[in-house]
Amino acid sequence: MEGALTARDRVGIQDFVLLDSYTSEVAVLDNLRKRFRENLIYTYIGTMLVSVNPYKELEIYTPKQMDLYMGVNFFELPPHLYALADNAYRTMLTEYNNHFILISGESGAGKTEASKKILQFYAVCCPSTEQLHSVRDRLLLSNPVLEAFGNAKTLRNDNSSRFGKYMDIQFDFKGEAVGGHILSYLLEKSRVVHQNHGERNFHIFYQLLEGGEEELLRWLGLERNPQHYSYLVQGECAKVSSINDKSDWRTVRKALSIVDFSENDIEHLFGIIASVLHLGNLHFDADGKGYATIGSNAGVRWISKLLGVPVLLLQEGLTHRKIEAKAEEVLSPLTVEHAYYARDALAKAIYGRTFTWLVNKINESLANQDPRRKTVIGLLDIYGFEVFYINSFEQFCINYCNEKLQQLFIQLTLKSEQDEYEMEGIEWEPVQFFNNKIICDLVEEKHRGIIAVLDEECVRPGGATDLIFLEKLEEKMGSHPHFVTHKLADQKTRKTLERGDFRLLHYAGEVTYCVIGFLDKNNDLLYRNIKEVMCQSKNVIVKQCFSPSELDNRKRPETVATQFKNSLAGLADILMSKEPWYVRCLKPNDAKQPGRFDDVLVRHQVKYLGLMEHLRVRRAGFAYRRRYEIFLQRYKPLCPDTWPHWRGVPAEGVERLVKYIGYKPDEYKLGRTKIFIRHPRTLFATEDAFQICKNNLATKIQARYKGYRVKGEYQKKKEAATKIENCWRGVQARKERERRAWAVKVIKKFIKGFINRNKPLCDDNADYVTFVRYNYLNKLRNHLPKGLLDKTTWLNPPLMLETTSQILRRLCMRTMVRKYVKGLTPQRKAQLQLKVVTSALFKGKKDGYTQSVAKPFVDTRLGEQEINMKVLQIVRSERIKYGTPVVKYDRNGFKPRQRQLILTQVAAYVVEDAKVKQRVEYSALKGVSVSSLSDGFLILHVPCEDNKQKGDLILQCDHLFEAVTKLCVLANKHSSVKVVQGSIRFAIQPGKEGIIDFSTGQEAMVYRAKNGHLVVVSLRPKAR
Ligand SMILES: Nc1ncnc2c1ncn2[C@@H]1O[C@H](COP(=O)(O)OP(=O)(O)OP(=O)(O)O)[C@@H](O)[C@H]1O
Ligand SMILES: [Mg+2]
Repeated sequence: MEGALTARDRVGIQDFVLLDSYTSEVAVLDNLRKRFRENLIYTYIGTMLVSVNPYKELEIYTPKQMDLYMGVNFFELPPHLYALADNAYRTMLTEYNNHFILISGESGAGKTEASKKILQFYAVCCPSTEQLHSVRDRLLLSNPVLEAFGNAKTLRNDNSSRFGKYMDIQFDFKGEAVGGHILSYLLEKSRVVHQNHGERNFHIFYQLLEGGEEELLRWLGLERNPQHYSYLVQGECAKVSSINDKSDWRTVRKALSIVDFSENDIEHLFGIIASVLHLGNLHFDADGKGYATIGSNAGVRWISKLLGVPVLLLQEGLTHRKIEAKAEEVLSPLTVEHAYYARDALAKAIYGRTFTWLVNKINESLANQDPRRKTVIGLLDIYGFEVFYINSFEQFCINYCNEKLQQLFIQLTLKSEQDEYEMEGIEWEPVQFFNNKIICDLVEEKHRGIIAVLDEECVRPGGATDLIFLEKLEEKMGSHPHFVTHKLADQKTRKTLERGDFRLLHYAGEVTYCVIGFLDKNNDLLYRNIKEVMCQSKNVIVKQCFSPSELDNRKRPETVATQFKNSLAGLADILMSKEPWYVRCLKPNDAKQPGRFDDVLVRHQVKYLGLMEHLRVRRAGFAYRRRYEIFLQRYKPLCPDTWPHWRGVPAEGVERLVKYIGYKPDEYKLGRTKIFIRHPRTLFATEDAFQICKNNLATKIQARYKGYRVKGEYQKKKEAATKIENCWRGVQARKERERRAWAVKVIKKFIKGFINRNKPLCDDNADYVTFVRYNYLNKLRNHLPKGLLDKTTWLNPPLMLETTSQILRRLCMRTMVRKYVKGLTPQRKAQLQLKVVTSALFKGKKDGYTQSVAKPFVDTRLGEQEINMKVLQIVRSERIKYGTPVVKYDRNGFKPRQRQLILTQVAAYVVEDAKVKQRVEYSALKGVSVSSLSDGFLILHVPCEDNKQKGDLILQCDHLFEAVTKLCVLANKHSSVKVVQGSIRFAIQPGKEGIIDFSTGQEAMVYRAKNGHLVVVSLRPKAR
C-alpha cells in the first residue's frame, strides 16, 4: 500500500511550491491534470491544499488511510485532506489555540464533501471516551439532518448547500472532541416555493414522500407522489439518479433520534414539512369583487391540523391583511395575486424559521457544559460561487459571500503576509495580486453599496419597484468598473444583457443578476396577521419560531441583505481570531463527470482563486513565522544557552538558538518581532528534535520525580524498619533476659539439687533428681547392650540410680535372654544344654575349653556306614547315641591304636573294625579323667578287681570336650569327670597302676618315657 503510494507520488509534483516553472499557469494546470488523471486529487501549495473533485468514490478515505495520516508531519506522506486536518489538530493541541479550516470553491467543487471527511477524520482519530461517543455521533449525524433540510439539487450540484455553515468542534486539553456549535448563514428560502428548471426543492420533501411510512404520510395527509405538490414540480426533476431519497430518509430519521430530537419534536417537524406542501397546493379563487377565497377547504384543514391553528383564523390570515389606520386595525381582503404571495411568504417563513430552530436544537445537543477552557477547530462550508442562466437575489447573496471569503483569504494570506514582511523589515519583492476588496465595497459599502441602495429602496415609501432599484444602482455605480447594466454597457456587452439585469464582475467571473424579486426577497415580508395566527400555533416548533414578542416590536426588521452582510462581518471576526488552514476546491468539469478535466474551467478557477499569486508568495516567502517569545518558549530546550531560562532579549535568544541547532542562513530570517522560517521541513526537523528533547526532559523529570518519591518511600520504609527492628530487639532482649533469669534459676536449682542430691527427696533436690533420672533413663535408652554377650555396654548410673540401674540391667538382660531363648530351635537348645554341661566340667579347668565353646557339637562323628555291621548288630539294641574315632593307647606299652568310641544308651564301646574291643557299662564307669592341658586324652576309669577285667581306657580324641560331655550326659556321671593337673594315674590291671604325665611344650608329642610313664606334651597355650 505504502509502496503504491510512493510510486503514485511521482506523478506530477505534490507541492506546487516545488514546481520549477511556478509562475506558469500552464505548468500548474499540467501538474493538476497529470495528477487528476491518476486520481491524485490533492496537491499542496505550501500548507494550503488544492483539491479537485473526482466525481467518483476513491479508496482514500478508509480507516487505514486515517491511521496512516495520524500524527505524521505534513510533507511525509502524499497530500491529503487528512494531513491538513491532522496538522491543524496537532498544532491546536501543542499551541493551545483556535484554528479554522476554510473550504472554498465554486458550487459543486467538493466543499461539503471535504468538510464531512474532515469531521469523520476527527471522529475516528481523536481520542475518545465511552462518554464522548455520543458527542462524536451527534457531530457526525448533525450533517445528514442539516443537509436534508438545507441542501438541494441545483444545476451545478446535486447536493448543493443552500445555506452557509460554520461548525466549531470543541476539544479539551487531551484532544478529545467534547462538543460543537454550528452557525448557519442565510438559507435560500425562496427555493421552498420556487425552483428553476432542472432543480429541486430541499431534499427533505422528497425524502419524506419517498421514505415516510404509510401511516406517517396518512397522518400528515400526504400522498407519496411528489408530482402532486406544486412546490415540488416546478423544476420537473423530482427524481434524480444520483440521489437515493429512501435511504437518505432512513439516515435522517436515525440521525434525528440520535441528535436528541424527541418523538414529539419529530412529529411536529414533519407536520411543518407537510404543511408547507399543503400550502403549496392551496388555490385561491377570486370572488365577485376580485378578492381571494380559498378554493378547497381540505388543504387548509390539513394545514390547520398540522400547524395546530384554528382553520378559520388560518383561512382569514391567508386571504386578508391587517392594515393599521389611525391606531385602528382593519382587515383588508387580499387579491388573488397577493394571497399567493402571502401563502408563499408563509411557506418560506415557517420553513426558514424551522431550519433555524433545527440548528439551535442541534446546538443544544452538541453543547458542552464543562466550563473548562476548550480549543476549537472551525469548519467553514459555505455555498460556493454559482452562476445560473437566471441569477437572482439568492445568487447575489451567495456570490457576495464568496467574495467576502476571498477577501478574507487575501487578507490572511497574500496581503497580510506581504504587509508582515514589510513590517518586520524582511527583504521582499512584492507579488502583485488582484484584491477583490473593490467588489466587496461595491456590494456592501455603507450608503453607497448595492445593499445600501437596495435597503433604501425597500424602506422608501411609495411605489418602489425592482426596476427603480436598478435605476438607482445605475445612478450610484454608473462608473464602477465591476458594475454593468444594459444602459451602461457598450454596444457589444449590451447584447448580452436584458433591461432588468445588472452584471457584476466578480473575482470569480461575471454574473448577470435579474433584479426582479430583489426588493421582495430583501424585505422578506410576512403579513402581521398571519404571524399572529402562527403565534397561536399548537405545534411546538412553530410556537417557538413565532414568538409574540416579535409582534410587539414595531421596529422595522433588518432586511435580509443587511442581516446577511452583518452575519458575514461577524463570521469574518470569528475567523480572524483563529489560525487559518485552507482547502481550495476545484471543479474539473461542469457535467459532474468523473475523469473529465476541462482545461478552460479549471484554468479559470485557478485564476480567480488566486492560486498563482498564492504560489508566488509562498515560493518567495516563508512557510512559518512566530513571535520570538513564542518560538523561544517552545524550542528553548534545544539549546543549553536558552534552557531552562533565557534572561536576555527574546530575539537574541532565538538567534542563539537557531545557530546552535544549525539553521543555514538562507533557511530563516529574523524580523523585528518574529522569526521567519522558509521551508516547512526546517520547522519539522526542529519540531522533531523538540519532541525527542521533550521526551528526554520528561524522562529526566520523571526520573527525578520517581527518584524523589522512591527516596521518600525508602526513607519511610527505613524508618519503619528501624522502628520494627527496635521493637523486635526490645522483644528479643526481654525474652533473652527472661530466658537468662530462668536459666539462672534453673542452674541455681540444679546446683542446689546437685549439692543435695544424695539427701532424701526434698524440695531442694526434687527437680535435680527428676532431671538426673530423666536424663539417665533417656540416655540409657540409647545405650542399651546390643546383644547378650555384650557385657560392657551399660551406662554408669549416678549414685542415686545405682540400684535402679542394676534392676534395669538385669531386666534388660532377662529380656534379651528371653528373646534369645525364645528364638532358639530345639536342636540349638539341646546343643546349648550340652555346652552348659561342658562348661560346668571344663570351664577354667582345661586349656582349649574357651576355643571349643564356639565350635558346635555334632550328633556323632561316625555315620552308620562307618561302623562295622557286626558292631552295629551288637550295639543296635542299645541305640547308638554318639560315635567318634579315637586313638587308644595300650595300658602297658602305650602303643597307639585307631579305634572307634561308640556311646550307646547304656555303655561305651571301643571298637576295632568288626570287633568290640572293650565295653564299659555306664553303671560301671568309675570316673573319667582328663588333663588340664590342651591335649585330647581322656582316661575312662573302670573297675579292675579281677584279671578278667581289662584296666582303664586311655583314649585320645580330637573332640575331647564333645566326647566327654556326651559320655558324661549319657552315663549321667557329671561329678565323675576329673580334670587333673600334672599326672593321671590309671589302673593297668588289678593292683597295677600306670601314670600319664601331662606337660606343655613347643611341640605336641606323646611318648613313653624312660620311667615307664606316658608323657603327653601339648602345645603351650598362646599368651593372651
Ligand atoms: N472527494 C470527493 N470524492 C468523491 N466525490 C466527491 C468528492 N468531493 C465532491 N464529490 C462529488 O461532488 C459532489 C458535489 O460536492 P459538494 O456537495 O461537496 O460540493 P460543494 O462544493 O459543497 O457545492 P455547493 O457549493 O453547491 O454546496 C458530491 O455530491 C460528490 O458527488
Ligand atoms: Mg456544499
